[in-house]
This record gives sequence, structure tokens and C-alpha cells, in this order.
Amino acid sequence: MFDKVKNLAEEIKKFRAQSQEELEQYRLKFISKKGELSSIMGELKNVPNEKKREAGQQLNELKQLAKEKFQELINYIDQADSSSSTQTAGIDLTLPPSSFELGSMHPITAVRNEIISIFEKIGFNVSDGPEIEDDWHNFSALNFPPNHPAREMQDTFFIEKNPDIALRTHTSSVQVRVMEKQQPPIRTLSPGRVFRNEAISARSHCIFHQVEGLYVDKNVSFLDLKQTLYHFAKEMFGKNTKVRYRPSYFPFTEPSAEIDISCFICNGDGCNICKHSGWVEIAGSGMVDPNVLSNCGIDPEEYTGFAFGMGIERIAMLKFQITDIRLFTENDVRFLSQFRRINH
Ligand code: PHE
Repeated sequence: MFDKVKNLAEEIKKFRAQSQEELEQYRLKFISKKGELSSIMGELKNVPNEKKREAGQQLNELKQLAKEKFQELINYIDQADSSSSTQTAGIDLTLPPSSFELGSMHPITAVRNEIISIFEKIGFNVSDGPEIEDDWHNFSALNFPPNHPAREMQDTFFIEKNPDIALRTHTSSVQVRVMEKQQPPIRTLSPGRVFRNEAISARSHCIFHQVEGLYVDKNVSFLDLKQTLYHFAKEMFGKNTKVRYRPSYFPFTEPSAEIDISCFICNGDGCNICKHSGWVEIAGSGMVDPNVLSNCGIDPEEYTGFAFGMGIERIAMLKFQITDIRLFTENDVRFLSQFRRINH
């Protein structure tokens, strides 16, 4: 009997249960009425009297051990169950969520998106092209005379000379690429980064962004140009905005015009932003020169077109009254976080 108690105690200690079924097996095997514990209890009567006391003590210890082991197994299985059935164990779901910082859109991106969405509503698509360009797409196709100053070193970052490869100085190069690939009707916007070899100051930078637009079809006239940009100015700067066109010169447009809008800060009365003139310049524009059309494989006898181009930094500076263009590229969070409320 003493050996049996010892063996049973060993068996109980070694028992492992991973599931409710195994727990039930333990109960049946050891502690149920028909289990080994009660059968060994039944043997106490066969123990000689002088050993009864010792045997009773050992049986009690065994009973205690079996009970404690049972509780231990229950606890173990309960814990395993709760952590596998739900991931939220130990997490207080009533706590308020911890706040996280929202980033903000860069003002250049916001203004670019706003310009694009105004023109998309009137049928313009968006086209893209390389920032490293050859002479043809940046200059020659656009009717730049061979000795035009814009080709010279002071304006252009050349990467290679003869044949010339340079960082594009405007996104008109993208328009050339579109016209080479596609016959009219063409209505396209080319936003992108451009590069000019200029000294960096509060007013100018050697890297900036443009959005250029091109519309080529039958019977496109200067009136279409005026109305399209008038529509844009009112959408972008407010209903009461006035627009004026000043004669200008670009090699790729004829006639050409500089576009001014009435100053939306002082409504034309004169302030610092408009240098007390009541007007601010926002874009260059003109009718696409017939030479440019034929350079790109479009028949100028059949088609006409207009083009315009504006600097995104300039529009953003006017819109948000930013006085230093360098702020756009400095990545100062104190500057950038001021644009949190723009939802474009
Ligand atoms: N490409 C010109 C520039 O970069 C802008 C422009 C575009 C002017 C189209 C007229 C027509 O300054």
C-alpha cells in the first residue's frame, strides 16, 4: 500500500493537461468516486492496526496533493483559454484612444492640387515628363533662336554639352512631348519641378515648381485663352478677381501676354503685396507659335492653340502671404504645420 501511494503521488505530479478534455481525464482517473484515489482509500482497512496511523497520514497528504494539482490544472487551462480566444485580454477597452499627430500637406502640393482640380473640371488632363531634358524638348522645338539668352550658362544647369543635356528650365518641354505623341484635340496640364541657374534669395530660387497648360484644337482663339484664365483666376482667388493681359514676349507663343490679377489682399487699392499697383502677376501665356506646332508634327494650317505657365511658389506666396520663397524647401515644421487646415 505504501508503494502504491508513492507511485500514485508521482503520477499525479507528472500529469499535464492542455485542454478541458485532459482536465476531465485527470478528474476521472484520480479524484472521481471511481478514481484511483478512492480505491486506494478503500485499502486502508487492510492495513495492520499499528501501521494505520501512518497510512492515514500519507493518504491525507495524497488527497491534498491531488486536490492542489487539480486546481493548478484548472488555473492553467483557464489562462490559456482566455489568451487564445481573444487578443484583447489585459487591454482596457474603456480607455480613451491615445492621440497621434496628423501631418499636413506641403503648401506647394496643396496649391498644385487646387490648380489641377480647377482645370480638370474643364477637361484638362495631367501629363508628366523627365526633369533631365535634351536641347530639343526644352529649347529647339519651342522656337528658341540658337543664341537666345535662356540657353546660356547663367540660366540653365547643363549636365552635358554637345549634344546639350540640361535640367529642364520649364515644363513646356512636357507639352512638346505630348504634342509629338498625340494629335489634337489636346487639353493638358504639366505640373512639375523646374531648375534655373539663379542666385537664391527671398524672391527667387534655383529649384521651383510650375504648372503649364496647353490647349490645341481647331479654331482655338485668344478669346478662349482669356476666358479659360479668367475662369481659373475667379475659382482660385475669388469671384471678384479682375484679370488683365499685358503684351509680352516668349519664343514659343505669338502673340504673348503676361497675366495679372487684381490684388486680392487690398482689392486693387494698393498694398505691400502688389507693391501699391493694385495688380499682381500670376502667369505667362500666349497663342502657340505655328513653328512650335509644326516642330511637333501638328499642322498649323488646321490647328491653333494657346499655352500658359505659372509658378506654383508664386501663387502660394500670394495666397498665403509668404514673403520668403526659401521657406518652401527648408522643411521647418513651424512653417509646415501652419498649413494643417488646408484640405486639398
Ligand atoms: N514657359 C514659360 C516660362 O517658364 C511660361 C509660359 C508658358 C509662357 C506658356 C507662355 C506660354 O516662363
